[in-house]
Amino acid sequence: MHFDDDAVPMSLLRQRAFNLRWATLPPDVIALTAADPDFAVAEPIRRAIAEYATGGVFSYGPAEGLPTFRSACARVITERKGVATEPAQILAVDSAAAGMMHVARFALKPGDEAIVFDPVDFLFKASVEAAGGTVRLLPMDPDSGRLDLARLSSLATPRTRLLGVCNPVNPVGSVLTRDELRALGDFAVAHDLWILNDEIWSDIVYAPGTFTSLASVSSAIAARTITVHGFSKTFGLAGLRIGYVVAPSDTVFAALLEVSRAPTTMTGASTLSQVAATAAYEQCWPWAEAFVAHLAAQRDLAVERLRGIPGVRVRSPEGTYVLFPDVGALGVPATELAERLLTEGRVAVVPGAARWFGPGAEGHLRIVLSTSRGLLTEGLDRMERVLRAV
Ligand SMILES: Cc1ncc(COP(=O)(O)O)c(C=O)c1O
Repeated sequence: MHFDDDAVPMSLLRQRAFNLRWATLPPDVIALTAADPDFAVAEPIRRAIAEYATGGVFSYGPAEGLPTFRSACARVITERKGVATEPAQILAVDSAAAGMMHVARFALKPGDEAIVFDPVDFLFKASVEAAGGTVRLLPMDPDSGRLDLARLSSLATPRTRLLGVCNPVNPVGSVLTRDELRALGDFAVAHDLWILNDEIWSDIVYAPGTFTSLASVSSAIAARTITVHGFSKTFGLAGLRIGYVVAPSDTVFAALLEVSRAPTTMTGASTLSQVAATAAYEQCWPWAEAFVAHLAAQRDLAVERLRGIPGVRVRSPEGTYVLFPDVGALGVPATELAERLLTEGRVAVVPGAARWFGPGAEGHLRIVLSTSRGLLTEGLDRMERVLRAV
């Protein structure tokens, strides 16, 4: 099986998995930190990389992305996300993170404001700030997974230009409903805002839940929605730094391309990474479905285990492979608790600290599930020992 304990290439992870993961931690620590699978990528991706590399030609690619890559992305958005999309709308970028920054720099001038969820991945704030903007926070209750939409109108000011939407939501794991998306989208229409719509997690949604893409809700919303996608979460290609942005029109596409500086060659997606990502989209959906089935079992195991620990509350997420347990009742700040889990328990998690997810994350820990059952079980055993002793 792809996702057994034996399928975790631990010696390679210890050499190659950075960003808070195995290669950055002492060898006796279990890493449940950055959201990145512990498994080797699907075979067709490895083959595509090997075949392309064997040809030995690595010339410049087109600034917009390889035609094969753009077509594969447009097909996925059309067929799997329900938003009719042409290859000409797809801009290849060197990671979803870079795509988010390009969208923020497209939409914001220094001094402008953006509304983003709290908690949410730090890349929203980082992108807005890279564009010289500032964020205003739309609260999401981490324990119910629902947005405080009643607060939305009080957050708009004459400087507001952008609304950030993360769906499904990292770190809370909720999948936004069509009604929530409509409320967000209609708000953007009413206030003439662009929408930075991050759907990188949208392939990781658990049955019977379904995913609704924001641009499918109405044509008025679609016209101001700029969607960012990547290959790190579903296909394990984080180190290849590859993603794409879907522009709603030719004019937005041209402006995004310009802002990305890809035509100058100062940035741009590696051709080899685009080849790998194209193989993922064209040949690896059965692998991705098996991965999601494995993750569903991981989620159920972890939720049950954590609910058995006094002082810990956790919602079962409808999407993503992160859990965001509420440990506030233990009375220890999340950063200190994560430190104790590391030093006493030899298990690494991401604390619900403002620097990672915003001020609304306090009192929570973020745990990833994208490992084997054996490693997750051992990680949870270690967490339980420390948390019971707090
Ligand atoms: C919501 C969200 N957006 C973007 C990213 C960045 O993805 P990439 O590795 O493609 O830059 C992440 C990764 O953690 C994420 O969770």
